[in-house]
Amino acid sequence: MTIASLDTTPASDATVNHVNHAPRHPHARPVGSDSYIWIDGRGFPKTGNPKYLLPNDDIECQRLTTQHYIVGRVIKSPYRAPITEALEKGIKVLNVGCGPGAWSKELAVRFPFSTFVATDIADVFNATGSPPNVTFIVADTFKLPFEDESFDYVFQRFHCLCFTEAAWPTIIRELMRVTKPGGTLELVEISCTIHDAGPVTTTYFEKLRMTMLMRGVNSNYAPLLGGTMTSEGLENVKHEQVKWNIGWGHPELGRLTTENTAATFGGLKPQMLLVLGLDEEEYDQTVREAIKELSGAYPSYWTIECFHGTKPDPDCDAPER
Ligand SMILES: C[S@@+](CC[C@H](N)C(=O)[O-])C[C@H]1O[C@@H](n2cnc3c(N)ncnc32)[C@H](O)[C@@H]1O
Repeated sequence: MTIASLDTTPASDATVNHVNHAPRHPHARPVGSDSYIWIDGRGFPKTGNPKYLLPNDDIECQRLTTQHYIVGRVIKSPYRAPITEALEKGIKVLNVGCGPGAWSKELAVRFPFSTFVATDIADVFNATGSPPNVTFIVADTFKLPFEDESFDYVFQRFHCLCFTEAAWPTIIRELMRVTKPGGTLELVEISCTIHDAGPVTTTYFEKLRMTMLMRGVNSNYAPLLGGTMTSEGLENVKHEQVKWNIGWGHPELGRLTTENTAATFGGLKPQMLLVLGLDEEEYDQTVREAIKELSGAYPSYWTIECFHGTKPDPDCDAPER
C-alpha cells in the first residue's frame, strides 16, 4: 500500500466554496457534507477548527487512515489502556476528533458487543462500509453533546495541533465529564518535532512550532499531558513513549512513515506557504530536501506519547462501614 495509490477517484463535482483555488489535486475533494474553503488546492471545512493547520479533504483522510494502520503497528495495538476484556464483553466507547474514523471502525469490527460513538468538529467521516455498532456525530470536543458519565472508555488521538496549551485542561475536563466513574480516558499524541533530524527538517519544524505558538498552540505539549491528566483528577495515570522511526527500522513501516511524513508536509503546505512567505517551488524544494535528509543521512524518529488514566469512582473509593 502506498499513500498515492490509495484512491484514484477524480475530484467530484460536489458543491464546494472556491475561495482561493479550486481543488486542483486530482484526489483533493470534499468529504461528508461540510462546505469547504479551498486554499492552494486543499480543502479546509468551513466548520473546522480555525487553529488547526491541516486540511480535512479526501487526501488528508486517506493519509490519516494509512497513519492509523502504521501507528497501530508501531505501538503494537490501536490502544494501550488495559481495556481488551471490557471491550470483548461490551462497553460504550467514545472516540473524539476521530477524523475519517479508522480507529472506531477497526475496533467496532473486532469488538461487536461494544458500541462506538465517533465525533469530529467537521463532517469528515468515511462512514462507507462502517460496522453497525459505530455512530458518527459532528461535535466540538469543547462541548460534547452527551450526558455526564455516558461512556466507559474515551479515546482521543493526535490533537497536538488542535488545542491551545491553555485549553488542554478544559478538554481533559470535558472528556472526564462524559466518562463514567471508574471509566478509562486514553490520549495518544505526538510532539510535533522530529528527533535526530537534519538541518532542513529541523528548521522546518522549528518554524512550524513558532507558527503554532503564535496561535497559542504548544505543538510539543504531548509529554506534559500526563501531569495535566493527574492534576485534573484522573487516577493511576500511565505514560509510555514509543519511538516511531522515519524511513528505517522495519522496512514496510519505515517506508510508509516516510510517505506519511511527506504527505503531512503536503497537507501543511497551504498554511505554511502563507506563514513562511515562500513560493510553491521554494516550499517544494524545502520538502524535497527534508525528505532526502529523512531517507538518507539522518535516521530520525517521531515520539508517540500514550497516556491512560481512570476517572475516580466515589462509590469504590468510599471507606467500608
Ligand atoms: C490529526 S487529525 C486526527 C484524527 C484521528 N484522531 C486519527 O488519529 O486519525 C485531528 C482531527 O481533530 C479534529 N478536530 C480539531 N479540533 C477539534 C475540536 N475542537 N473538536 C473535535 N474535533 C476536532 C480535526 O477535524 C481532525 O479530524
